[in-house]
Amino acid sequence: MRIEPFRMERMQSTFENYVDYNLSESGVHPMRVSELLEIGGGGAERFLDTELGYSQSNGTEELRDRIAAFYDGAKRANILVTNGGSEANYATLWSLLERGDRVAFMIPNYLQAWGLSRAFAGRADAFRLLPRRDGGRMRWALDTDGLRRAVTKRTRIILVTNPNNPTGAILTEEEMDEVVRAARRSGAWIVADEIYRGAEVSGRTASSFWGRHDRVLITSGLSKAFGLPGLRIGWVAGPAAPVSRIWSYRDYTTIAPGMLSDYLGRIAMDPKRREAIFSRTRAIIRRNLPVIEAWLRSHDGVFGYIPPEAGAIVFARYALPIGSVPLVNRLRTGKSVLVCAGDQFGVGRHLRFGFGSDAEYMLRGLQRIAEALAEMAGARPRRATGQRPRRRPPLGARQRGRAEYSDRLPGPQDKDPAARSASISTRASRFASSSVATRPSSCIS
Ligand SMILES: Cc1ncc(COP(=O)(O)O)c(C=O)c1O
Repeated sequence: MRIEPFRMERMQSTFENYVDYNLSESGVHPMRVSELLEIGGGGAERFLDTELGYSQSNGTEELRDRIAAFYDGAKRANILVTNGGSEANYATLWSLLERGDRVAFMIPNYLQAWGLSRAFAGRADAFRLLPRRDGGRMRWALDTDGLRRAVTKRTRIILVTNPNNPTGAILTEEEMDEVVRAARRSGAWIVADEIYRGAEVSGRTASSFWGRHDRVLITSGLSKAFGLPGLRIGWVAGPAAPVSRIWSYRDYTTIAPGMLSDYLGRIAMDPKRREAIFSRTRAIIRRNLPVIEAWLRSHDGVFGYIPPEAGAIVFARYALPIGSVPLVNRLRTGKSVLVCAGDQFGVGRHLRFGFGSDAEYMLRGLQRIAEALAEMAGARPRRATGQRPRRRPPLGARQRGRAEYSDRLPGPQDKDPAARSASISTRASRFASSSVATRPSSCIS
């Protein structure tokens, strides 16, 4: 089976540890083992005494009980522990999809499941979050017409990421109901990646899709809202029978979570301690969001954004005559700063900045980006005498005019010329049927 490259992850995997400033991460600064043990009431000795055998393959009973407690009425049998949220997504899609199925897929998004859907089923149909004014503020809102068009009788899965990566948007209750209605109409499963749930700016944990429909599978994990990506603990929550089936697929991948990770995961998922960890995450987000917002505002001729509602990420639109992947490459090679390219989430002319690290570190990275912007402005060709000026209006002004969201989905256009010519036309025609004229984005509010 051939699978297209997962471009954003490939870029991060290759470069994130080889730059001076990594602002590509979407989680908060990770916790230390010692911090976690302390939250758990000490017990370093017991932890160090752990025998490194195989752990229970679907997660220890205690860990599954604790994860189940995160979902109203869920039981141990509803939970499968995986190696990271990414394995939860992988095993879930692998177990559900057959060739010829379709997946309705939220864009913008973390595109792991986009690539998997196309590999397992052959086809994914996009529906979008679009910038929209709602209740006096701009937000990324669900395009319900686009959702209706994307979901057909052949749709096996409706895949949402909520809270969303890269926008940090949270679906409203009405939007969640709309997704459920679409699933009921078509008989599709809702696969809801809720890995950012718990990292809300407001401090109110976002609603889950759990319990809204009998065909719901939640994928999640400790990597984002819990600040524990190094544990590689993820999970699937859903009805017992499909969860058990997904477990049997997992026998073919990594068999079991690591023993030490299961141990530490039990501390993090203890309902009494979970909120303390969320508080740490939210404190980092609340501290750093105003810092990056101030920086973006100081470049408002270049950047505009809709404030995120969750996650340590801000998805900023830019007004520069360069695609997002070349821009990211330029910042990396010229300034040793890594951010993520909008095209690799399905939306062009955007950058995703991670602001979950130490604020000083982030500001130094942003300063390097500012230098690059200044150099790019200085390097723009001067116009010849007599020519009419071609001034780009500031972003705020252009936002009141036409938006310039890309209808391109990420793919070979970003790299690799050979692959590019092979698939760009099919992608373009496929996407045309699901694309919608975008509305102007807001931003600084
Ligand atoms: C929406 C989403 N799901 C899953 C993952 C992967 O999570 P993990 O690191 O736990 O495998 C990510 C990572 O960025 C993500 O953004």
